[in-house]
Amino acid sequence: MGSESATGFAPGKLILSGEHSVVYGFPAIAIAVDRGTRVTLHRRPGPTSVERSVIRDARLDKALGTLLPSSGIGVEIDSDLPVGRGMGSSAALAVALVRARAALEGRVADFDECHREGFAVERVFHGTPSGLDHAVSARGGGVRYRRADGEVHIEPLSLPALRLVVLDTEVAGNTAELVAGVRSRRPSIDPLLDRMGELTDQIASRLAAGNADIGGLLDWNHSLLRQIGVSNERVDSLTRLARVSGARGAKLSGAGGGGIVIALVDDPEPVLSAARVRGVPAFSVGICPPHAPEEHP
Ligand code: MEV
Repeated sequence: MGSESATGFAPGKLILSGEHSVVYGFPAIAIAVDRGTRVTLHRRPGPTSVERSVIRDARLDKALGTLLPSSGIGVEIDSDLPVGRGMGSSAALAVALVRARAALEGRVADFDECHREGFAVERVFHGTPSGLDHAVSARGGGVRYRRADGEVHIEPLSLPALRLVVLDTEVAGNTAELVAGVRSRRPSIDPLLDRMGELTDQIASRLAAGNADIGGLLDWNHSLLRQIGVSNERVDSLTRLARVSGARGAKLSGAGGGGIVIALVDDPEPVLSAARVRGVPAFSVGICPPHAPEEHP
């Protein structure tokens, strides 16, 4: 039994540690956030096409074509994520699309389906993604993710209360180009990637022990990301702004080259107001809880 119209939602994500190094088999820690992307599908005659979308991307039609038939579906896409900034808007779109398609067919997409089919969509956007973004979007909550020797390890990570503020550079980083740039700087940057792996394990151990005191480790992570060449002056200036406004630590999150900075705070207000005064878009984020157990392993 199908329906005439159906909606799927999936959250965006923030990477706490391990972006870029995750591509080379090191672990990463990411959290699903309380913002995301909603896809509505409805049956109607004519070619399948996007009727309304806040995500404007030349690859959108191709991405939809990986999951939808070539005719008979109208698509609407809404999102409250900043697009192209490292918060996983394309991964959230991928997972929301899998969920909406299943709902249109009168069923619920489980984690495996979201993970497998979502990856096909993510590949259209990012070429050779590690799979981290859509895994955390499909699962919700906190995740320690590792993909090595063709095997994917996704471990739920229970998190202490973390207060995070996102500061937006308003510049979209190109993930595929940034990943290719890091690859071109290997093997001379390999010791830095090793250190990122160790640091990520340290952050995961602290969080798993209920210890939210990871500010200094986030600062260290940012310094490593700078050294592998994915930060820039705008990103660095927002990390400094967050720190001088009382953040315990701040780093770029996602591919870099612009995108967003995350700041760990005790109280969001001083960082939010410092950002406001300088005209920098900023907001606090909460964690999207893990999805229902039957939907993930
Ligand atoms: C992008 O959100 C994170 C990167 O590590 C790329 C990836 O994991 O595919 C830069």
